[in-house]
Amino acid sequence: MSPFAHITGWGMTIPERVLTNHEISKMVDTTDEWIRERTGIRERRIASEDQTTASLAVEAALKALRVANLSPSELNLIIVSTSSPEHIFPATASLVQDAIGATHAGAFDLLAACTGFIYALDLAAQSIRSGSINNALVIGSETLSRFTNWNDRTTCILFGDGAGAFVLQSSEEPGGILSAVLRSDGSGGDLLSLPAGGSRHPASLDTIHKGMHFIHMNGREVYRFATRVMAQATREATEKAGLKIEDLALIIPHQANRRIIEAAARSLEIPLERCVINIDRYGNTSTASIPIATIEAVESGCLKRGDRVVFVGFGGGLTWGAVTVQWSGPILPKRKVYPKSYQIWVKIRSHVRRLIRTIEGIIWGSNFPEG
Ligand code: UT7
Repeated sequence: MSPFAHITGWGMTIPERVLTNHEISKMVDTTDEWIRERTGIRERRIASEDQTTASLAVEAALKALRVANLSPSELNLIIVSTSSPEHIFPATASLVQDAIGATHAGAFDLLAACTGFIYALDLAAQSIRSGSINNALVIGSETLSRFTNWNDRTTCILFGDGAGAFVLQSSEEPGGILSAVLRSDGSGGDLLSLPAGGSRHPASLDTIHKGMHFIHMNGREVYRFATRVMAQATREATEKAGLKIEDLALIIPHQANRRIIEAAARSLEIPLERCVINIDRYGNTSTASIPIATIEAVESGCLKRGDRVVFVGFGGGLTWGAVTVQWSGPILPKRKVYPKSYQIWVKIRSHVRRLIRTIEGIIWGSNFPEG
């Protein structure tokens, strides 16, 4: 029988800087009341200058590994889901791999906008269930504040920064990731996009002048799409797991707009209390929103071992999807997985590898045949 993929560790990072609606109302023509009524958001967190998508991801990852009692070197795979990567390449996941010293892991980024964490969870779970790997790290990390047009009141009120990470591990014990539904409709790609900086519109004075490096969104259309797919994907994933909506302890939706979550709850005929909502404090942290909401549910005692839940998300692409999970927890006994000095050693290791590469370059470079 194929093994099961359990979520055995979790960690989140939220920048300290709080940006309130009141502060935004001094930047654009909006009010605290409008933002609260239309979105449910009261405040969001903004990354400091020295925080990046990778640095938030690293912090969340180390916390998750500590909960799982797993050492970074025991990881086989790292997936970073993000729409605000450090660069087009190298992958943010490779930077995270180096920073945490995951010396035996493959690493790549996954881009499915706000649905990315759902996609990444399913991919990691499939790799574990196939028997090809044992331990995976899935991270959703965003610094969308860097791509927000702070003069555009239709988008700048929505987004916030943050990261959440899960460790997934193989076990013969039934449970963990039970089912997944992944969907896309690229015909709606223009409804939510960051048009420039890629191969279609490489960076130029013109793209900068036109503000094409900022998030562009048709809010009304995204809203209509979201209210249609959230309940539908939740039902499909639940049925695929052989469960009924009544069997779910909680639904943990992507935090984009409180009204979208309310509409999904109505459509599923469940009380809103069964949906985890923390959008009031963090805004829309895109692919990080589901792990952050999950971790807060675990830490407040709302999500317990054995509970069955659905994570459901939607976003640019267009993409949407849902995953059914039987919540697990650590499967390894408590042990010191990395000492306090670990991070220093990992940094030294990285510098030494760079130095060796430079020396090799000098030696081999001089012997390189002239073209
Ligand atoms: O992760 C996925 C990311 N995106 C989403 O999930 C977004 C989904 N969409 C939404 O959440 C909502 O559509 C918004 C919150 C973006 C907008 O709320 P809405 O109730 O759909 O407003 P609307 O776009 O229909 O605009 C209503 C009015 C417009 O004025 P007029 O044309 O009626 O005079 C807007 O110009 O509200 C105006 N408006 C604002 N007013 C004050 C738009 N943004 C603001 C604002 N403050 N920040």
